[in-house]
Order: sequence, then structure tokens, then C-alpha cells
Amino acid sequence: MATATVPEVDTKMIPIFVMGKQYEVPETLTIMKALEYSGYQYIRGCGCRGGICGACATVYRKAGDYKIYTGLACQTVVEPEMYLAQIPFYPANEYDFETLDATPESVFKLYPELFRCVACNACTKVCPMDVEVLDYVSALKRGDLEAAAELSFDCIQCGLCASRCMGEMAQYHIAQLARRLYGGKLAPKAEHLEEMCNDIEAGTFDEAMAEVKTFDVDAMKKIYTEREMEPAMSDDEWKPESSFGLA
Ligand code: SF4
Ligand code: SF4
Ligand code: FES
Repeated sequence: MATATVPEVDTKMIPIFVMGKQYEVPETLTIMKALEYSGYQYIRGCGCRGGICGACATVYRKAGDYKIYTGLACQTVVEPEMYLAQIPFYPANEYDFETLDATPESVFKLYPELFRCVACNACTKVCPMDVEVLDYVSALKRGDLEAAAELSFDCIQCGLCASRCMGEMAQYHIAQLARRLYGGKLAPKAEHLEEMCNDIEAGTFDEAMAEVKTFDVDAMKKIYTEREMEPAMSDDEWKPESSFGLA
């Protein structure tokens, strides 16, 4: 798929509508690039350009079609006579994470609208990441924070699920709270992470860091590109040949 903002000379041009105004754009562009080709500049609503940050949720209609379609602007290719608009951000509730108990009740108090879910499953159908949104909402209602955290792990916070919810909830913020509570306060701590943090605090890497700071950009690039990669299939005993910077 050719999606360069500057298209091939013979690329077919098609009409699209952005906030009601018509533009002619190359048919090979993504919505995001078509908007930029039309003269719009993204200040918000654009992040990774790679389908993983969720910033560019977009709704559109097609000529003669009753449906409202949704997609990520950076991943969806334009079609003739699309009527486009980006969706806004859905506000989350504020909380002080440090003082929040890692219990289902904390979630229920902050987001009582959870219980307005009517299990219509519209949220799951619209999700560009194929997250089982209704399943994580159901897990949240059961108070199963671990299941909600795991089921929502691939969520990119695009907000499209909230745009379809007749329960008026922003499901993804609730799931994010579950992931924070589970990951931060309930899941067993990783022992190797704690060991590494202790090593850092004990100054084990200070000498290597001081040396790294003397490198110029080219030397840093060389170290990065020539680094020894861990094989995709390695046992727990694998160690790089160079021990530079290691404890
Ligand atoms: S769960 Fe909602 S916010 Fe997350 S990726 Fe799916 S549609 Fe987007
Ligand atoms: S869209 Fe809202 S009401 Fe419908 S299943 Fe999803 S969370 Fe429940
Ligand atoms: S810009 Fe990040 S998902 Fe589209």
C-alpha cells in the first residue's frame, strides 16, 4: 500500500469531505495523510502514526450509506466521498492513585456507570484492536480487576468504544484504572526488577554510565546498531559476549 504524502504523479485523485469541505486527494493515502495533503496540520489527534497510540480515532460516512463508520486515521485508507470527522477525547475521572485501595469498590465508586451496561456489545464491535470490551466491562462489574487488566491489555485508548456506549461510560478509562490497580498494587512484584533497582541504587552501573556520557552521538549510534541482540529463542542462561555496563 503506497501511502506517501507525496504520491506518484499518476495516482488517481478522489473527493473527500473534511468538516463539510470538499478536497481532492490521492486515493492511496491514509485519512491522516489525506488531511495533511488537504492542508490541515495535526496539533492534537495524532501521535504514533503507526496504529498503537490511539490518538487518531475518526468517524466517517460514505455517500449513500446509512452507517457511521469508525477507524484510526493513520491506518485507514481514504475512499471516494468519505465524510470525515475526528472524535474528541472522553474525559476520565480524577483520582489520587497512591491513596486508592486496590479493591473493586474503588472502581465502582469512581465509575458507577459501569452498572449501566446493557451488554449490547457495540463497544466490542467498534474496537480497532479487537479488544473484547464487553468482556472486560463484565469482569469489572464482577470486581475481577486481574481479568479486566488482562482482557484490556491491548487497548490503545482511542475512545471509539465510548463513542458507541449507551451506558454513557468511557470503558477504556475504567479498564486503565483496573490495569493500574492490578499492576501497581496487586500483581506479584518481579524479583529481577527489584534486584536491578537495588543494583542501580547501589551504584553498580555508575562507572559505565559515566563512560557512556562521554560518547558523542555517532559513537552512541554505533553502540546501538552493533549491539548484541538476544536470540528470539534463548534459554534463561543467555548472556551477551560483551559484559560492558553489566553488573
Ligand atoms: S477498548 Fe475502546 S479505547 Fe481501547 S482500543 Fe478498543 S475501542 Fe479503543
Ligand atoms: S457499548 Fe456500553 S452498554 Fe454496550 S456493551 Fe459496551 S459497555 Fe455495555
Ligand atoms: S496516530 Fe497513533 S494510532 Fe493513529
